[in-house]
Parts: sequence; structure tokens; C-alpha cells
Amino acid sequence: MASLEKTGVMAALNPKQDPGFPIDRPIVLVGMMGAGKTTVGRRLAKALGLAFRDADAEIEKAAGMSVSELFEKHGEASFRQGEAKVIARLLAGAPIVLATGGGALTNAATRALIRDKGVSIWLRADVDTLVRRATRRPTRPLLKNGDPRETIARLLSERTPFYAEATLTIDSQPGAHNRTVAAILGALAAHSTSRTGA
Ligand code: S3P
Repeated sequence: MASLEKTGVMAALNPKQDPGFPIDRPIVLVGMMGAGKTTVGRRLAKALGLAFRDADAEIEKAAGMSVSELFEKHGEASFRQGEAKVIARLLAGAPIVLATGGGALTNAATRALIRDKGVSIWLRADVDTLVRRATRRPTRPLLKNGDPRETIARLLSERTPFYAEATLTIDSQPGAHNRTVAAILGALAAHSTSRTGA
């Protein structure tokens, strides 16, 4: 049980404030829409005793409109500019858990910033899982036209080289977000040990 405590697995099952390893950088969740970044991120933050921020929600707050409206009224390029600014602001403060939008890493400056300032975690999931989760609600502008499966498969293949640069890769467990959180906590503990040599 002691080693489970140390890896933080118990923290995921029974949230508490001591992860058992130092957190000196923001933890940045990256990956496709539908990977579970927001749900997993919120639970991870709770387990680590950190604040949670969702980049899309912050963009919506700053713009005073939904992501869909932003895409419609100002276009994707303008959304991407806002997204890069918001992520830069969120990474400048105290360590948090940050869920990024699926396309955030298509911006080179955002990629460099996350690499320099954060510990990034690619929440990896297969196309079936992504399609199932991302189409539950009709809120994703990029899935409004065309076949969602084709769009998701294409974006995943275009973006995989960026996601694969993440510090850690964790497979999103179908249907069981707490298991994903536990896997992240274990990987973070191992990563922290390898960095500090503790
Ligand atoms: C996008 C993903 C969305 C949101 C926007 C664009 C993308 O975020 O930022 O619709 O390009 O993949 P989620 O990954 O949180 O769905």
C-alpha cells in the first residue's frame, strides 16, 4: 500500500492534497477532442490539490461567446490566436492543471511554450473512442460539416507528431476516467523521480 500511496494512485481513488512528489510546473493535458482532457484534468487537479483551468472555457470567458460562435463569427485563425494568448497567460502563473483544446499544438509558439514551461501529457485514444465521445454533444465546430469520423481520423493523423512530443503519453481508458487519472499520477511520480533522482 505504501508504494501505491507514493505513486499517488490512492490519491486518484480517494482524493487528498498530497501527491507525494513535487509539482513545480504546470501539468498540461494535450490530445484530440473527445480524449477526456477536461474531465480527467478536473479530477487530476483535485487529486493533486491544484487549480484546474480549461483553455476553451477561458477563451469563451475572454471573448464573451462560445467556441462555436467564435469560429462562426471570426474564423478558426482568429480562434487560434486567442487560444495561443490564453494558454500563454495560463502558463505564466502558479502551477495548475491545464486542459488544452485539441488543436492548440498546431501553433508553434504554443508548442514551444508548453515544452519550456510545462509537463505535458498526451491523453491518447483511438478513433472509435474519440468519435464516440466527441459526438455526444454538438458543440465542436470542426465536426459540424462532413463525416465526424473522417475529420477526427484526419486531424489525429495530422496532429500525432505534435502530440507525440509530450513529456508523457497516457492511454485514455475507455469509460473509466479514474483509471486514467491513476495512470497519470503513477507516470508523474515516476517522471518526478527520474528528474530529481529521488
Ligand atoms: C478543437 C478542439 C476543441 C476546441 C475547438 C477546436 C480542435 O477543444 O478547442 O473546437 O481543433 O481539435 P476540445 O479538444 O476540448 O474538444
